[in-house]
Amino acid sequence: MALNKEFENLFLNVSTRAALSSYYFVGKKDKIAADKAAVDSMRKELNKINMKGRIVIGEGELDQAPMLYIGEKVGNNNGPELDIAVDPLEGTNFVANNLPGALAVLAVAEKNNLFNAPETYMEKISTKVKEKNVVDLDYTVKKNILNLSEYLNKKPEDLTACILDRPRHTKIINELNDLNVNIKLITDGDICGALLVTDEKYNVDIFLGTGGGPEGVLAAAALDAFDCSFQGRFLFETDEDKSRAKKMGINDLKKKYELNEIITGDSIFCATGITS
Ligand code: FBP
Repeated sequence: MALNKEFENLFLNVSTRAALSSYYFVGKKDKIAADKAAVDSMRKELNKINMKGRIVIGEGELDQAPMLYIGEKVGNNNGPELDIAVDPLEGTNFVANNLPGALAVLAVAEKNNLFNAPETYMEKISTKVKEKNVVDLDYTVKKNILNLSEYLNKKPEDLTACILDRPRHTKIINELNDLNVNIKLITDGDICGALLVTDEKYNVDIFLGTGGGPEGVLAAAALDAFDCSFQGRFLFETDEDKSRAKKMGINDLKKKYELNEIITGDSIFCATGITS
């Protein structure tokens, strides 16, 4: 097993240091500087680790990002081959405006066990329920809620759905309202949003809606550790998006990905809070 306990501590150190670097920018209204601080730190610390690491999710592709770009080799080229997904600063607005919920995040798996995701939007759904055919990205909102209600033996009005507060979600929000489901709207940070289903104390039964694809993959890595379910489907709108996806080996652009197609085998997920 390549990912032993020692790696857990090393990667936790990486997210912790990235969070600390970004922390100096809390409330300074400069999300670009806050992000850069986290990126610089994460890259520096990753390069100290004994591994042949490869960034599979990062700050974008080489033409978009000079650091932690997709395909960048990290580590000191001495050790196991690992795939790494990073979001050095998840919730740039949270840090810029000193709002709770900002995180430094990364996920690690052995080579070829972590999905290489493009920088595009993704439709997502997560719940605690692992049973097949209860909640599914292909079902209507109504069918998902009624199935979940029956499965959890809770009335729809006792269920809570978490969703990003965006105009693109108006239809879903209206459907949830028609079913009397409680709604927890989040302004940003849908990795955290997706993770609210992991523990009853957060009182969220389902997370749904469209957010960043890379954030979807990172959420899936964490949900795997919590033994929850996740499905995602990338949304490729422009021709550029489509050709980038094809270059990454994605041929079926409408494919629905199950959690175990996004991450397999042993993995490590680390998240360190930057704001509360
Ligand atoms: P940043 O940290 O890059 O600002 O992303 C925050 C975030 O809220 C993500 O959690 C989410 O996936 C995405 O932005 C949603 O994108 P948009 O703001 O375009 O709806």
